[in-house]
Amino acid sequence: MAPRYCVKPYSIDAAEPGMEIGRMVLTQDDKVILSEGTILTESMLQGLRFWNINTVFIKEILSSTSKIDFSIPETAVQKKFYAEYETTVNVVKNSFSKIRFFKDVPLTDMQELANKSIEPLINSTGVINHLNMVRRQDDYTFHHSVNVAIISGLLGKWLGCTSSELKDLVLAGLLHDIGKTQIPLEILNKPGKLANDEMKVMQQHTTRGYKLLQEKPDLPAGVVHGILQHHERSDGSGYPLAVQGTQIHKYAKIIAVADIYDAMTSDRVYHRKSTPFAVVEMIVEEMFNKLDPEVVSVFLHNVRDYFIGNIVELSDGRQAEVIYLGQFMAARPIVLTEDKEYIDLERDKALSIVKVVSA
Ligand SMILES: [Fe+2]
Repeated sequence: MAPRYCVKPYSIDAAEPGMEIGRMVLTQDDKVILSEGTILTESMLQGLRFWNINTVFIKEILSSTSKIDFSIPETAVQKKFYAEYETTVNVVKNSFSKIRFFKDVPLTDMQELANKSIEPLINSTGVINHLNMVRRQDDYTFHHSVNVAIISGLLGKWLGCTSSELKDLVLAGLLHDIGKTQIPLEILNKPGKLANDEMKVMQQHTTRGYKLLQEKPDLPAGVVHGILQHHERSDGSGYPLAVQGTQIHKYAKIIAVADIYDAMTSDRVYHRKSTPFAVVEMIVEEMFNKLDPEVVSVFLHNVRDYFIGNIVELSDGRQAEVIYLGQFMAARPIVLTEDKEYIDLERDKALSIVKVVSA
């Protein structure tokens, strides 16, 4: 049987003469320095250092034909998280159904839910990964409200908010779509794209939410602004008032990022869930001028750490572990496949991540 090969990254200091180059080496401006199959010599290594190349991919014979077993049993922390998360979502479901009928938000109950049920979930180790693994095809609005509360709270922590700001932010995240309880169910639950006039009704959820909470004298103004303005965008392209930059409250800017990330990573009736890797990249490429740059930077910087170690499925069907993320290209990390090949997806554009298997 012919030997099987894998391609493995080596730092330039660990590479030695006699090793075989497994992947073409390019300069920053894409000039080929060494082609695949070249046997390294001492002078070539000096040349690579001259070009500031820090990593080379080396071809190695696989010592064994066995595959890596990526199956990871669910941990006690995950089980606890999922159980408490489901309980919280059910409480939200019951409360929101009552709000639809009575048109009154039980503020004390909501504050208690934010403080006693959602804050512990925010502080759970690996929270972003747990959220990515939660199945949520049904009851989207209720899952989404809890997820946005959790992600907004995390973002607030990363941004250095005070504990009283965090309480307000989590409450605002939980209630950000509360106005949807006043939108007709046939529009809210319509499968497929909304028509223009239906979209206008749907967008009223921001002002409807504001109206529901207007009468609550004890509610901090920031919470109300977070709810009213979470679809406003820094470049003035948002709604309901198309305000810009500094006119948008900090809580609304934080909720906007949490809302987009959660909506894009969720399975919906009308769109397939994107991987968190692709969503993070989309936020950088397409949304940067619409969102607050500080909030986006802090989000990306922190969320990337959760992706290392995720087990993903590649477009060729193989499973792989994410082992390194480049500075910006979160969607195309370096992965180690089940058959022990290291692949830099940034260079191997024919392959992509299609889903997260476990996180
Ligand atoms: Fe919304």
